[in-house]
Amino acid sequence: MLILGIDTSCDETAASVVEDGSTILSNVVSSQVKIHKRYGGVVPELASRSHIEAILPVVERALGDAEIKITDLSAIAVTKGPGLVGSLLVGVSFAKALSYSTGIPLVAANHLEGHIASIFLEVKVQFPFVSLVVSGGHTALYFAKNFGEYEELGRTRDDAAGEAYDKVAKVLNLGYPGGPIIDKISHGGNPHAVKFPRPYLPKSFDFSFSGLKTSVVNYMRDIERLGHFPKKKGKEIGIADISASFQQAVIDVLVYKALRAAEKRSVRRIVLSGGVAANSSLRQEISDKAKEKGIKVYIPSPDLCTDNAAMVAAIGYHYHKRGIHASLDLNPEAYLPL
Ligand code: KG4
Ligand code: ZN
Repeated sequence: MLILGIDTSCDETAASVVEDGSTILSNVVSSQVKIHKRYGGVVPELASRSHIEAILPVVERALGDAEIKITDLSAIAVTKGPGLVGSLLVGVSFAKALSYSTGIPLVAANHLEGHIASIFLEVKVQFPFVSLVVSGGHTALYFAKNFGEYEELGRTRDDAAGEAYDKVAKVLNLGYPGGPIIDKISHGGNPHAVKFPRPYLPKSFDFSFSGLKTSVVNYMRDIERLGHFPKKKGKEIGIADISASFQQAVIDVLVYKALRAAEKRSVRRIVLSGGVAANSSLRQEISDKAKEKGIKVYIPSPDLCTDNAAMVAAIGYHYHKRGIHASLDLNPEAYLPL
């Protein structure tokens, strides 16, 4: 069964063809980073305009790369939400028009469920499992019982982890998007150089990253006032050390909560996904710490952690198989819980 996935939830125009929910035949992602870079973040109006220009060539390429015709498709799955409403509208309108003109069934997908399903493109993970979704817009822990059956254990009370990465990178003058840059630069820094706060929020599976972000901001202000970088044991603390220390605080909290959730729910499987799951140190640490506890962690390849449409096609397959389709009055929803 061939499913076309379409995702335009944020600043990437993506289309993909996936066979039977697991085999990727094509995966096209057109990034708008160049457009938003100069503003240091996504400008929603520019994102929508850029999706309009990109959507047709991106879908055509996805079909071309997969070497199939539109009529070979069993269903068209599109991200309905959550995301930027103007961006979502482009993908949803396009998918509806394509479905109407071809008679191919339409499936509405939740972007977060797509992130969770991205792992099924590479391995078969058995339900139930604990799912940690860490992206630019979301940080949430779920107890995943089946497709469409998720119990939310906790979520961020303020900034998402990826948002904190991007904001901290801005303060450190590292550029946009911050996550991959901090990931890279941190390898050359000491993660214990600065003791930034770990927002554990005891007795809760919620997260909070805005205090940590403010701590980095204040630390940089102090440096500015001082006129030079401070020293620790005779060694100057530089940007790489500050990045690595910030990153370590984020990783400590994410890993601790994911493992605790798995223990509390007595499951031996954790699925980590979303853009921040592309982070090399987070991947390494969660895998190492989980291994010590006899828990298996499943993480999609970095390219499938960040936004893509293969994950939308993957989740679309399961709904199509069950005959759950969307009608042509489908509308995008900026806030859409799982
Ligand atoms: O899942 P995603 O592509 O889009 C959303 O659904 O939000 O996640 C994007 C976020 C951005 O904040 C980006 O900085 C972060 O994921 N990110 C990373 C890495 N790659 C992307 N954060 C840390 N380390 C990375 N290697
Ligand atoms: Zn995403």
